[in-house]
Amino acid sequence: MHILLAEEYDIGLNCNDHSIRESADSEYVSFWEGEARKLEWFSPWSRALEWNLPFARWFKDGMINASYNALDVHQKSKSAKPAILWEGEDGSSRRITYGQLLEMVGQFAGVLASLGVKKGDRVAIYLPMVPELPVAMLACARIGAVHTVIFSGFSAASVRSRIVDSGSRVLVTADGGYRRGKIIPLKEIADEAVSHLDVTCVVLERTNQKIHMNPRDRLWSELVASPLDAVPLESSHPLFILYTSGTTGTPKGVLHGTGGYLTHVHSTFRWAFDIRDSDVYFCTADIGWITGHSYVVYAPLLCGATQVMYEGAPDYPDASRICQILQKYGITIFYTTPTAIRMLAKSGSPDTFDLSSLRLLGTVGEPINPSVWRWYYEHVGKKRCPIVDTWWQTETGGMMISALPGIETIPLKPGSATHYIPGIDIAIVDEEGRSVPPHTRGHLVVKRPWPGMLLTLWGDDSRYKEAYWSRYPGCYYSGDYAMCDDDKYVWLLGRADDVLKVAGHRIGTAEIEGSLVSHPQVAESAVCAIPDNLKGQAIAAFVVLKEGADCRRDLAETVRRDVGSIAVPKIICVVPRLPKTRSGKILRRILKAIACGEEIGDTSTLEDPGAVSDVSVAFARCQVD
Ligand code: WT7
Repeated sequence: MHILLAEEYDIGLNCNDHSIRESADSEYVSFWEGEARKLEWFSPWSRALEWNLPFARWFKDGMINASYNALDVHQKSKSAKPAILWEGEDGSSRRITYGQLLEMVGQFAGVLASLGVKKGDRVAIYLPMVPELPVAMLACARIGAVHTVIFSGFSAASVRSRIVDSGSRVLVTADGGYRRGKIIPLKEIADEAVSHLDVTCVVLERTNQKIHMNPRDRLWSELVASPLDAVPLESSHPLFILYTSGTTGTPKGVLHGTGGYLTHVHSTFRWAFDIRDSDVYFCTADIGWITGHSYVVYAPLLCGATQVMYEGAPDYPDASRICQILQKYGITIFYTTPTAIRMLAKSGSPDTFDLSSLRLLGTVGEPINPSVWRWYYEHVGKKRCPIVDTWWQTETGGMMISALPGIETIPLKPGSATHYIPGIDIAIVDEEGRSVPPHTRGHLVVKRPWPGMLLTLWGDDSRYKEAYWSRYPGCYYSGDYAMCDDDKYVWLLGRADDVLKVAGHRIGTAEIEGSLVSHPQVAESAVCAIPDNLKGQAIAAFVVLKEGADCRRDLAETVRRDVGSIAVPKIICVVPRLPKTRSGKILRRILKAIACGEEIGDTSTLEDPGAVSDVSVAFARCQVD
């Protein structure tokens, strides 16, 4: 791998506070206690960490409330400061101050309570990117209800399975949402999702299109209630469930707690983004994913920051939309994905806008190629802004590896996420769990608990243990490959498991395969990733059809309906048979090699080596189609 001279990018901002790393490494629990004290607690904890491997409870009996820390604490000094500068896809805008946000949240908490929602109850939220989405989340947090936000691009079947699994009795949705100038009929999808379930729907009027109201439905605008105060909750009280893809067909309900999670996102946000009162922060993530939970909703509000929230597609009406927003609001800190950066690069738009307000850039969600990094540095940051490449996961709650301009100056290397966050102990190990030497690929593991770590998987402690804690005893298994260089910089090398990252969205191959084989004419299927210039990865699906079937054209629709449009394969290739071992296991490695035009490698374990040429021929034909 080509690595630029580090000195070229030595552009840290602030003080060099090395004492943070030293104290964090020697006494990590008391280090995190110090960080936790930067939030407001109703009463202190008696023990900082209860660690019953693999279950960690941080600041367990301390009493805290997320919405109180996001809103109430700012009222004295910042009630008139904008919390959210919202930009609609149609160019409309809304400006919501900390004072107004508190009012909205307090009231909606009252509404939820009037619908019977109590502490510990789950509330599903299926909303587009509008301010009412954070309002609904914070209202849940205010009364100790557990929110589960469902990305507004998911299908009715995905929404339904999440509602059923979480046991949500209230669903907050909207009449529709704007996406690329069209309206996504969220209410219609929600109706299908909750049919025959005992669920009350609160419907926000966003598009004001005509919708069908059922007896279970209540219009947001017609619900009034007195505002509620934040209730003190135990630090380990669950804050939210967020479903994410794993290696099986059933998404995992990642469960996060309160005090530890808030501590983690609060500290990492300040360290990575060096946030100041005058900043205007913009993160392009949808709140339906973890980046939106941690670094659109919770961390910026905990820090009393002003941020821009954008409703629509980043390339609507054209690819310059993001640059227009950066210029219009004078954004100072910009946090986005490699896919969005590649899109900007393709459009060339940064060169025609005034981006001089920017001072810090971030990237997240997938490995960033060094050439894309350099383009981001030169054309968006104009060689003035450090780039923080932040590695983390839905499960980790907050950043785990990143440069931290807020506390230290280090040379950056394009394509490396640099070093571990203070207080976090990560290793890169081989199959047997031994640390690998520099420049050797290994599995990324975390060796001790950290405050933002998931509590468990909702309703499934055994899957939690199995998925994360069984492969390397005592260590959290991330599912990512990584390596270190001689300067101890970490380079992330992609997933080691059957999880894909398409435009930064996490999708399990098993979910797509499950959908494909649910089609009555499909006998078998196997899915793998292929490189994509824009989205990083794209999906290739190989299917074996039943005798006489001809349904290739229906299959994209099947996946769209079962999972959602983000999971629709770019290539669907009908093959006469799949390469299998003698015991019947599909060799995806071979499919991937064929789809990526790579060396096929060892085929000695194949039951029938002829399958390789069958698939190759079919794939070549499929590309011509
Ligand atoms: C997976 C987690 C992190 C919040 C958004 C995604 C990949 C994430 C990076 C990065 C290389 C990255 C990993 C990880 N990933 N950030 N900076 N460099 N890869 O959260 O949907 O849970 O996905 O995203 O493969 O395991 P997620």
